[in-house]
Amino acid sequence: MTAITGTREQAPDGLAPSSEPFGVFTDIEKRFALGDGSYLTAIEKLSLTLEKGQLISLLGPSGCGKTTFLRIVAGLEQASMGEVRIEGKSISGPHPDFAFVFQQPNLMPWRTVLENILFPLEIRREKTPKGVDRARELVELVGLAGFEDRYPSELSGGMQQRVALCRALVHDAKLLLMDEPFGALDELKRMEMHDLLLSIRARTNVSVLFVTHSISEAIYLSDMVAVFSRRPATIRDRIEISLPYPRQGEMRYGADFTRYEHEASRLLGIVR
Ligand SMILES: Nc1ncnc2c1ncn2[C@@H]1O[C@H](COP(=O)(O)OP(=O)(O)OP(=O)(O)O)[C@@H](O)[C@H]1O
Ligand SMILES: [Mg+2]
Repeated sequence: MTAITGTREQAPDGLAPSSEPFGVFTDIEKRFALGDGSYLTAIEKLSLTLEKGQLISLLGPSGCGKTTFLRIVAGLEQASMGEVRIEGKSISGPHPDFAFVFQQPNLMPWRTVLENILFPLEIRREKTPKGVDRARELVELVGLAGFEDRYPSELSGGMQQRVALCRALVHDAKLLLMDEPFGALDELKRMEMHDLLLSIRARTNVSVLFVTHSISEAIYLSDMVAVFSRRPATIRDRIEISLPYPRQGEMRYGADFTRYEHEASRLLGIVR
């Protein structure tokens, strides 16, 4: 796979390095006020540490609170209790050094594929010829060459999701938050995207929180899998994945991989 160009640059208001781990999420709790005056507790006492460059998957059943947790980390949602710290600073709103791939592609329908991907560079005033080259390179890597000038409505759901992925990767974020980004892709494309994500992580050392329902996806990608409980979400257990990087497709069929799958299934209550 081609290596993509571009160097890591510090944003003018970039996060300062600190001695504590990259991301520290402490005792996060989220209660939603419902229309009838009652509350729904989506997350309860959830604590997690994300090291610089680490890729953690958040694996859990539907409706347990994964998206809510990711939105809190992204600063898009306020926790009812607890604290999100990134590089030593408390986070209370969206930060330009973060990139988010939502469960839905959320593309701007009036912009073409390329214009959507370039949007983060525009708001950061970094739309240089080099940035445009990088966007075009990403388009090629995700298999969308030739679609640069098409509009989102002319693409399939899986193609739109790949555009959203390029948009998240175009500006070398420090923290990549991904919410089931490959759910709409077929198996083959999904595996290609896994290797693309891992090669970009290896090159940029970006820290990643990756939400998924898929046990095998979580294991293949991650340094560590955090298995969520049913709602209200808390972390049931953590599985350190000691398969070496770069990960290879054949590892999916190895004994270690199967052992991790079994352990995750047990923690999810699928098998005993
Ligand atoms: N704005 C909101 N107001 C009230 N309840 C909400 C709100 N957002 C989420 N919830 C509730 O919080 C719980 C967790 O939702 P969340 O979207 O975080 O789950 P999830 O783990 O991402 O699920 P899925 O895997 O299906 O995407 C659900 O019961 C949901 O109904
Ligand atoms: Mg979700």
